[in-house]
Order: sequence, then C-alpha cells, then structure tokens
Amino acid sequence: MNRHYASPKGYAAYPRGDSTFSLSPNKFQPRSQPALRRRRQLFQRLILLGGISLLLVIFIFPSWRAAILPTLSLGLFHGTEDLQLQTVRYYDLSEVEGTEKGWERGERVLMLTPLRDASSHLPMFFSHLRNLTYPHNLIDLAFLVSDSRDDTLNMLSRMLTEVQNNSDPTMAFGEISVIQKDFGQKVQQDVESRHGFEAQASRRKLMAQARNWLLSATLRPTHSWVYWRDADVETAPFTIIEDLMRHNKDVTVPNVWRPLPDWLGGEQPYDLNSWQESETALALADTLDEDAVIVEGYAEYATWRPHLAYLRDPYGDPDMEMELDGIGGVSILAKARVFRAGVHFPAFSFEKHAETEGFGKMAKRMKFSVIGLPHYTIWHLYEPSVDDLRHMEEMEMERQAREQEERERELAEQKEASQFKFGNTHKLNDEFKGSDKGPAAQPVKEAGKGSSFQ
Ligand SMILES: *[C@@H]1O[C@H](CO)[C@@H](O)[C@H](O)[C@H]1NC(C)=O
Ligand SMILES: *[C@@H]1O[C@H](CO)[C@@H](O)[C@H](O)[C@H]1NC(C)=O
Repeated sequence: MNRHYASPKGYAAYPRGDSTFSLSPNKFQPRSQPALRRRRQLFQRLILLGGISLLLVIFIFPSWRAAILPTLSLGLFHGTEDLQLQTVRYYDLSEVEGTEKGWERGERVLMLTPLRDASSHLPMFFSHLRNLTYPHNLIDLAFLVSDSRDDTLNMLSRMLTEVQNNSDPTMAFGEISVIQKDFGQKVQQDVESRHGFEAQASRRKLMAQARNWLLSATLRPTHSWVYWRDADVETAPFTIIEDLMRHNKDVTVPNVWRPLPDWLGGEQPYDLNSWQESETALALADTLDEDAVIVEGYAEYATWRPHLAYLRDPYGDPDMEMELDGIGGVSILAKARVFRAGVHFPAFSFEKHAETEGFGKMAKRMKFSVIGLPHYTIWHLYEPSVDDLRHMEEMEMERQAREQEERERELAEQKEASQFKFGNTHKLNDEFKGSDKGPAAQPVKEAGKGSSFQ
C-alpha cells in the first residue's frame, strides 16, 4: 500500500498494523535549470520507452520471460508473479465491477464522510463504523474536514488511531484518508434558520463542491463501490452496506426519518431530497431562470413530487424498491462505475437541481438505475431547533408551575383535614388528586413544526 495520509497542515500518519510513517507535506522543491530539466526529461522518457518495449516483448513472447527476467532482476522485478515496475500500476477494471454479493467477492468499498464542526457526532459515528458487518478490511475510509472551528480534526485523528489499533485485527479498516479543505461555508445557524430558503441554493452548491473534492481525491481503481454516509445518523442497521448492495442497482438510498420528542409527534420524515419527478415540478422548472435551483421541503416550491420519505410503511417490505430521480445524501450506496462514467454532484444548476438531487438526475440521464427503499429506514439525529428549545423551556416552566400548584393544594387539603375531623376527608383527597391528571398535563403540538431539513 503506497498511500500517504497527510493534510496540508502536516497532519499525518495513522498507524496501520506495525507500519507507522509520517511525511512532511509541501516540502519546497527548487526548480532545476531548464536545460538540466529538459535533459532529465529526455532521459526519463528514454528509460520509460525502454521499459515499455521490454514489457511488450515480455507480454508478446511469454516464453522469453523466464530467460530475460533473471538477468534484469536488479530490484525492478519481484519475479514473474509480480510483473511490475515499482512505479507502474496495472489495474484490470473488469474485475472491480460491483455485484450484489460484494463481500463474498472481496469488493472494496470507499466510504466517504464530509465533516463540518462534527466533533459532537464523532463518537456515535465511530460506534456505527465498528458495528458495520461488511468486512472492515474491504472498506477504505475518507473524510473531508471543512470549515470547522471545533476540534473535529484532532478528535477524528484520535478516534481513527484507536479504531485502527484494535487488538482484534478484523476491526481495522483498509486505507484511510483525511482531507482538509475549506469551502467558505459561512452561513451561521441562526441566519440559516431565518433565511433558510434563500440560503439553500448556495449552500447546496458548496456542499456539492466538497463532495466532488472528496471523491476525486480518494477514489482508487480498486474500488467497486462508493458509500456516502453522514456523521449525524443516529440509528442504522449494522448490515446497511450489504442490504443496499443486495439490490445490485447503480445508486441505492434508504429512507431517512428522524425521531422527535413526543410533543412533536414522535417521528418525522427527514430527508425530502429523495423523490420522483412530477409534471408539476417539470412545469415549474420550465418557468425558472437557468441558474435556479429547486430545493425540496420549502413552501416556495410546491412540486407535488412523490417523496420516498412519505411512502414509508413501518410494516412494509424493506426490500421494496422505488425508482427515484432526485436523491438525498445522508446514506448513498453507488457503484464506483457511476462516478467513473462522469456522474458527479453538480455545483451548478443541472436540470434545476444541485448536489445530491442533481447527482440523482444526472445518473438517471446517463441511464444508470437510481432507486430508494421506502420501507428500509435509518434514523437521523434529532437536534432541537431554536424554536423547539424555546418551546421545551416553556413546557418545563409550565410543569414546574403545575407541581408547585399541586403541592400548595395538598398542603391546603392537609390543613383542612386536620381542622375538620370528619370521616369524608379521604374521599375529598382522592377527588382532588384525580382532577390534576387532566389532559392539560400534555400540551399537544402539531408534528413537523420547527423542522429544518438538512
Ligand atoms: C453498536 O453495537 C453495540 C453493541 O451491540 C451497541 O450497544 C451500540 O449502540 C451500537 N452502536 C450504534 C451507533 O448503533
Ligand atoms: C495500540 O494499542 C496498544 C495496546 O492496546 C498500546 O499499548 C499502544 O500504545 C497503542 N498505540 C497507539 C499508537 O495508540
């Protein structure tokens, strides 16, 4: 494995087994004189040409191999089994086509996770990683840390070291890359909630760039599959990679919901970016400016599209498939060939969509299969919005006031009981207690209020 783990800040080196290494990135190399450089290039080309002709001869006349190789084994060849120059890699991509039983055929998965101020989610994310049943040695991990002001990078480094240094060798993952790059994602949380809709399009375009960077920097010829997974997933089956892979489609997404407190209805669809195209939306798209980006989940664009999220039946067949046009990015399993064919996350308006929704549309346009599983659900973390927090505070104050009232009433009753020593005090007491447990104890609020999709 000749991969180097480094970020521009010299952050490096995850010990894998016993091979620890670090490197000093961005070492400045003075340029050589042009003449010297030309001569060196010529020399390099000659060597390359010689090497290629030699390889050709060897491939064309296999019987010569035995005769030629021993005389040339000056550290260039490892023997007839490993017929390679040290700097030349040979890949047969017909061997890395993703199939429905990748884990049996040793197919490598590149798992990609964009991180931004995510340190609070990392412990949960690593717990998910450890629990994955897909063979860990077949999973390569790649992270993009961008626009973070918290301790994401250091914490990530610590947790990666821990997971790779496990005493159980089956726990360690394949190769790991951490990429650090800012994209100027500056929208603050409070601003976002105030101007949620307006901020969406530019936010999605930046996110698209981040995804493209992460993928293009880390996709290797050995990868058969690419699995995108957000760090803030709370609950997901340990077998999720296999479960999605079994469908053997080019792009597959599960349904994504989130749990809510009881007073908000208990649960709610989370990811509205997975949908099927509708006539209304196409008509709407035609009326919009070339650079416009339709975002789902906002009243501004009523598209009347069938959303994967709303089609969920908790008792439905988890293997049921639904064809999709746009998809959400919380958890995407895709065959690597989709990306190799040029499908990406548009950071511009592609058919009036950007990022993951644009990715779905582009994959569809290139005749790849894009499906969602309406009854196979994973759960996104619930983080209360500012409104939710305020409401919870109000409820807490109401509860305290009610308790205080109850205590005062009990005190008053006891006083009363000690004054009138007649037989009916108990009955009175019971009546009072019963009346306290009225429906007023459970304020009802409409589900979905205060939601903020992605
Ligand atoms: C991982 O598995 C352990 C043991 O079954 C469980 O306690 C833990 O909650 C799981 N982690 C996640 C994130 O589901
Ligand atoms: C790896 O684990 C061993 C034993 O569990 C420990 O002694 C060692 O310090 C760890 N190495 C790192 C780099 O954390």
